[in-house]
Formats: sequence, structure tokens, C-alpha cells
Amino acid sequence: MKLIGIVGTNSSKSTNRQLLQYIERHFQDKAEIELVEISALPVFNKPANKEVPESVLEIARKIEEAEGVIIGTPEYDHSIPAVLMNALAWLSYGIYPLLNKPVMITGASYGTLGSSRAQLQLRQILNAPELKANVLPDEFLLSHSLEAFDYDGNLRDARIIQKLEAIFDDFRVFVKVTSKLSNAQELLRQEAENFDWENLS
Ligand SMILES: Cc1cc2nc3c(=O)[nH]c(=O)nc-3n(C[C@H](O)[C@H](O)[C@H](O)COP(=O)(O)O)c2cc1C
Repeated sequence: MKLIGIVGTNSSKSTNRQLLQYIERHFQDKAEIELVEISALPVFNKPANKEVPESVLEIARKIEEAEGVIIGTPEYDHSIPAVLMNALAWLSYGIYPLLNKPVMITGASYGTLGSSRAQLQLRQILNAPELKANVLPDEFLLSHSLEAFDYDGNLRDARIIQKLEAIFDDFRVFVKVTSKLSNAQELLRQEAENFDWENLS
């Protein structure tokens, strides 16, 4: 199974990136996971000619070629980071790589809540007409993320690893099951392609 892991932060020292790197290594026998950075994307400026930068198109192609996507998000002020919102705005501007794409959300935070509010918000964003991803109902929250990894970058707590393994196995099933939901797919794509926030009359 081929998956893309979107690192939802531009912080160079990030426990969310660490978590995705751990997932990439830990599940290498179950899936080929390529991590994608979004920090260098230009700031979304709604260009009038609808031209999407090549750096965005490259990520869009990777998403389209993958069977599923994992998005790792920190929480800033009860929200997803601006850099992640920026990437999602580009990835819905006349292109639809996330449409019907199975998505698993992960989040890590220094505190106890494990980015739960950002994760909830991300679900809502991914339901927008031009994103419309299929989001796995389960979420993986890693609290106290600064203490969660050992020196080699592995998760320390066996119960947390067990939970992550269970959710990841469910995600692999979810990817297979949702690939069968094809009846409405073409109509939904046409709807997304015809949808225009600036011409809703
Ligand atoms: C500006 C700012 C706002 C934050 N807001 C929240 C918040 O609303 N909820 C929360 O649980 N943590 C919050 N945090 C803590 C972050 O979750 C934590 O610092 C860190 O970003 C965790 O992810 P990372 O290691 O990938 O950077 C905030 C941190 C910063 C710098």
C-alpha cells in the first residue's frame, strides 16, 4: 500500500514530524509511506489566473498516486497551523487531489489533549466541497509528545504503540473499503469541478 504523510508544520523541531517518521519506519512492512513537507509552499494568494505553483502540483500528483494520506497536525490556538491551512487552500484551488481520498489524521501536543481540537477542525475542513476527503473516524492523539519518544525516535509506551497499530490496521482496511465506494465518485468529481465559491448564483 502506497501512502503519503503530510507534515502539517513548518517547525524544524516537531514532535508531529517525529510521529510521522516513526509511523513511516514502524509500518514499513505494511505500507510504503512517503513524507511530504509543505513549509516551502508560497502563501496562498488566490491568483486571478488560477495558476497553481509547481511545488503544489508536485504534492497534488503524489497524493493522486497514493492510495491514502496521513496528515499530522499540531494545534496552535485551537486551530491547525497556518502552513497546513495554506497547503489545503492550494490543494483545493481548481485541483482536487484529496477528493474521495482516504485520510488518517494524527496529532501530537506537549500537553494532555493531543491536538484534539485541531484534529476536529481538520475534519471539518476536509469536508469542504473541493476537498471532500474520506476521513477515518478514529483519530490518533499523542499527548505529552516531548516525553513520548526515546533517543532513537521510537515511541516509549507499549500501550500507545498498540493503539497506533490498531488504528493503522483499521486505516488499511478503510483504504480498501472506501476504494469500493465508486458509484457516486464521478458525479462528486463533476460537482467539485463545477463548484465555484465566487459564482454561487
Ligand atoms: C502559538 C502557539 C499556540 C498553541 N496553542 C495550543 C493549543 O491551542 N492547544 C494545545 O494543545 N497546544 C497548543 N500549543 C502547544 C503545541 O501543541 C506544541 O507547542 C507543539 O506545537 C506540538 O507540536 P510540534 O512538536 O509538532 O511542534 C501552542 C503552541 C504555540 C507555539
